[in-house]
Amino acid sequence: MKRVGILTSGGDCQGLNATIRAVGKTLYNHYGADNLEIIGIIDGYRGLIYGEYRRMKPDDFSGILTMGGTILGTSRQPFKLMRVVDENSVDKVESMKKNYKKLNLDCLVILGGNGTQKTANLLREEGLNVVSLPKTIDNDLWGTDKTFGFQSAVDIATNVIDCIHSTATSHGRVFIIEVMGHKVGWLTLYAGIAGGADIILIPEIPYDIDKVVKTIKARTERGKNFSILAVAEGAISKELAALPKKKKKAVIAEMKYPSISYKIADEIESATGQETRVTVPGHFQRGGSPDPYDRVLSTRFGVAAAQLIIDKDYGKMIAMRNNKVVAVPLEEIAGKLKTVPVDCEEIATARKIGISFGD
Ligand code: F6P
Repeated sequence: MKRVGILTSGGDCQGLNATIRAVGKTLYNHYGADNLEIIGIIDGYRGLIYGEYRRMKPDDFSGILTMGGTILGTSRQPFKLMRVVDENSVDKVESMKKNYKKLNLDCLVILGGNGTQKTANLLREEGLNVVSLPKTIDNDLWGTDKTFGFQSAVDIATNVIDCIHSTATSHGRVFIIEVMGHKVGWLTLYAGIAGGADIILIPEIPYDIDKVVKTIKARTERGKNFSILAVAEGAISKELAALPKKKKKAVIAEMKYPSISYKIADEIESATGQETRVTVPGHFQRGGSPDPYDRVLSTRFGVAAAQLIIDKDYGKMIAMRNNKVVAVPLEEIAGKLKTVPVDCEEIATARKIGISFGD
């Protein structure tokens, strides 16, 4: 009997169920329902720590391709606290190892983003057989060109920018659409280009508010009565970026605005006199059905992960490189963030058609 555990961890995204489905279907097709037991771990690593799980049946992997969220539930279990004994005096790592052994697992399939991959690597170091899959709307996982969830979130954020475009034009307003991404700007960059934003602000390129204002004024002079800004949650001004880490954190914590977009809006309105509004789609970007691209990507990834299990080729994360699905050793990718290179082709392209990055 082959026994495989599966969990989803960290912030959810589109394509989690599509990936779970592909893993389950491939394994059942290979081993047959009588020779395989899949254990669904509830709410990510928390379920593994506290021994919360359910035995799954082949039917659980049907009818979930288009379903948003995760049928297993998820939770955030910060990597930096993994070695810290929790409020119930539980040693998390020891407890996860104990439950893995108690369930008699041959392997654990882990779907998650950056923090999740770090813990997956930790479990590998602790001797567990793990196979992981890259999920996140942020597309910030090192070692893979694409994560599932990203394209669906780009679609949603682009749709928001499209809708805002028409109302911005009618009213002659400046609009900021705040796109998810605290540390990296992939989602903002792609949605910004796709939505025809005039200005894109991402964490990797600190902005100068005077340059932002100059771009808006230049548009007004050219007879454009509106401007659209795609601003990442983690967009940062040049002055703030220049501060030491601790001081920077303190300044952000003391900011009187709900988020950076509102501060930028205030500054634009004072400098231009033009009405400036903010739209924050927030978790809307992570919800609902995966788009066709993500359904295909999730299926390709899930099938490849199942193949690693069949081959007993553990300790790896499935990744996409040059449109080929590959497996990369967890120790190569864990703990590395894939930020937007400031000299990447997408940014150069955007600049060539006149999109400003506020620098
Ligand atoms: O990592 C995915 C993500 O959606 C980020 O883009 C966003 O900044 C963050 O999670 C939001 O986290 P939470 O769901 O915990 O509010």
